[in-house]
Amino acid sequence: MAVLANTGFYRQDKAGKTLILACPEKGAPELVYFGLALPLDTQAANLYLAMQSGVPQAMLEEPPRLSLLPEAGRGWLQSPAVEVTALDRPAWAAVWSLDKVVEQNLGFSVYLSDTVAELAVCLNIALLESGVLSQKITLTNNGTTQVNVERLACTLPVPEYFTERMGFYGRWCQEFQQERSSWQSTWLQENRQGRNSHANFPCVIVGEEGFDELKGRVIGAHLAWSGNHRLKADYTILGHRFIQAEALYLPGEIVLQPNASITTPEFLANVSDQGLNAMSQAFHREARTRLQLSKPRPVHLNTWEAFYFEHDLEQLKALADAAAEVGVERYILDDGWFKGRNHEQAALGDWFVDSKKYPNGLMPLIQHVKDLGMEFGLWFEPEMMNPDSDLFREHPEWALQLPQYDAVLGRYQLVLNLANPEAYAYIRERLFSLLSEYPIDYVKWDMNREYTQPGSDIHPEAHAQVLALYGLLKEINDAFPALEIESCASGGARVDFGILNYTKRFWASDCNDALERSAIQRGFSYFFPPEVMGAHIGPDQSHTTSRRHDVAFRAGTAMLGHLGIEWNLLDANAEQKQTLTRWLSHYKTLRNLSHTGRNWRLPSADGRAQTQWALDQEGVSGFAVYSQLAMPKQAQPLPVRFPGLIAEQTYEITILEHSTLGGHLMKALPAWWEQSLTLNGATLSNIGLQLPIIDPEALILLTIQAVPATEKN
Ligand code: GLA
Repeated sequence: MAVLANTGFYRQDKAGKTLILACPEKGAPELVYFGLALPLDTQAANLYLAMQSGVPQAMLEEPPRLSLLPEAGRGWLQSPAVEVTALDRPAWAAVWSLDKVVEQNLGFSVYLSDTVAELAVCLNIALLESGVLSQKITLTNNGTTQVNVERLACTLPVPEYFTERMGFYGRWCQEFQQERSSWQSTWLQENRQGRNSHANFPCVIVGEEGFDELKGRVIGAHLAWSGNHRLKADYTILGHRFIQAEALYLPGEIVLQPNASITTPEFLANVSDQGLNAMSQAFHREARTRLQLSKPRPVHLNTWEAFYFEHDLEQLKALADAAAEVGVERYILDDGWFKGRNHEQAALGDWFVDSKKYPNGLMPLIQHVKDLGMEFGLWFEPEMMNPDSDLFREHPEWALQLPQYDAVLGRYQLVLNLANPEAYAYIRERLFSLLSEYPIDYVKWDMNREYTQPGSDIHPEAHAQVLALYGLLKEINDAFPALEIESCASGGARVDFGILNYTKRFWASDCNDALERSAIQRGFSYFFPPEVMGAHIGPDQSHTTSRRHDVAFRAGTAMLGHLGIEWNLLDANAEQKQTLTRWLSHYKTLRNLSHTGRNWRLPSADGRAQTQWALDQEGVSGFAVYSQLAMPKQAQPLPVRFPGLIAEQTYEITILEHSTLGGHLMKALPAWWEQSLTLNGATLSNIGLQLPIIDPEALILLTIQAVPATEKN
């Protein structure tokens, strides 16, 4: 029982989950349990005791403990939580003693210190209302000399029987691609690109063997940070499994003076015993509590793929007319509006309206857009400067670039050093001035290159850059509370809960090809809800892949997020505009279902089709987009089963839209197709509905709506 001596237990219950911590007097706090709610009379001490194993031969006398702050100094032989170097004390081997545990509404603050290392840490850990677990660590230098912080990581132990891992990879125009493997060794993702990057989405999922969308125990973990990071899923020969997440510090980057502190980004995790959908739904709830959207997500029109840099006022107005006609609610003027911005090689940093393109400023266009009843949005890329810009010519020293070396360019541009107070003041003034001068409702905040040599003298400053960016976004939000900001980084290279604290939408990808989008959007949906996923209806022929799709396939795919149009509607024919108008009206009717309700990914047995299913919180109204992505392997598809419905409730199935049917793979439609069909929830959830056999790259939009009791009789 020595293991129990001087150990306190702390329990929190929320959203059907339980968190139990063990806090020993000597040593770091341990996670006794994080999972589905345990009975209230569960003895935490007994549970903790039951978790203790025997002592293996040929190892340390006391097996290393996997705590929430693993300590190298106590024999932890994998990566520790804290790594610090000092010149006058062995800070690198810190071991913790408990000072106090403060219990708050929002979980626990566990205060620990080491008087030899002269360091203190505070672990804040809480089960949030959404059921997501949040952790943050603050490290303080209690000594009289400075220290270097090499690592400060949050650690989440996960069950020993979790033997599979799922993650994401990606590139420009192909973000959030899923990969999966068995998990028997160290998996590591290191992001050193400054922003999160297309390649390194800061998320990982682990679970029991064979987990899928609807079954199995899984834990999804996310680091809420928009900069360099290290994400690890590790396994030790003792059987320990854990996820560790941290902001990655470049060599010598974080120096703490006496009494100074540094705090990690928030590390979020959620556990589900019903597979991936339930895991995602809690992350969606968490995003919603942070977003606090005040109104439905308006239909966007973005000018980028319509005109690129060629801004002609009359054409832009005509596009606004066409947009308003089909039902657009917000018009966003993309890149190309500021002084000298005629191509991608110049002018970033010169945030003054181009007087050649807009001799009377932006107001004539904005007024036109507003007169049509639409909101107005404007594109910026505030963190950048082109070497070919007045800004760079005046202030080359404002580039985030070591002056001793040649600059490395990306998209012909350099990063503006926001941690430099003068550069920050300049860009703040430009943004504040334009946002005050014009009635701008929306900002598309872009960021189109990685950091290389992020410093301005000899020290790395990548971390400071991200903090300065957050500070700037906060100042703008505070000053312009009605403004909404979208986070874009060459598409989806900066999607995380860190920046979501300041923004309301992500541009998920520059790829508007609906087929590619289906995979991109599915990957996005594991951690983020549909209402923050910008999804646009592109032109007939995709600008990034050259594929062609009909309006139904493009619009039905965009329905699954925050819908917009990125297509020169002046090229659309009358029939296309009519179809578009119908789809936009479906979106307006149904958006609240997916944007406030529960969303499921329902894969098909052969992996060639997917159904995205949205149902309101009450289980009364839902809609599904069934997409045939590739040739089906089987001649007839399997029925689609719709989870979440009320078993005894009768529902009516209505087909709202579909791609051309009866093309090549199907001779006759299912018998029910042209009738009104009602089924109860139990049937729809357990047996399902047989859908037509549709061609690849085609889809169907249907609603499932509870029939009010009176209508049944
Ligand atoms: C990035 C964005 C695009 C567009 C262009 C403008 O590539 O991802 O959506 O705004 O910049 O230059």
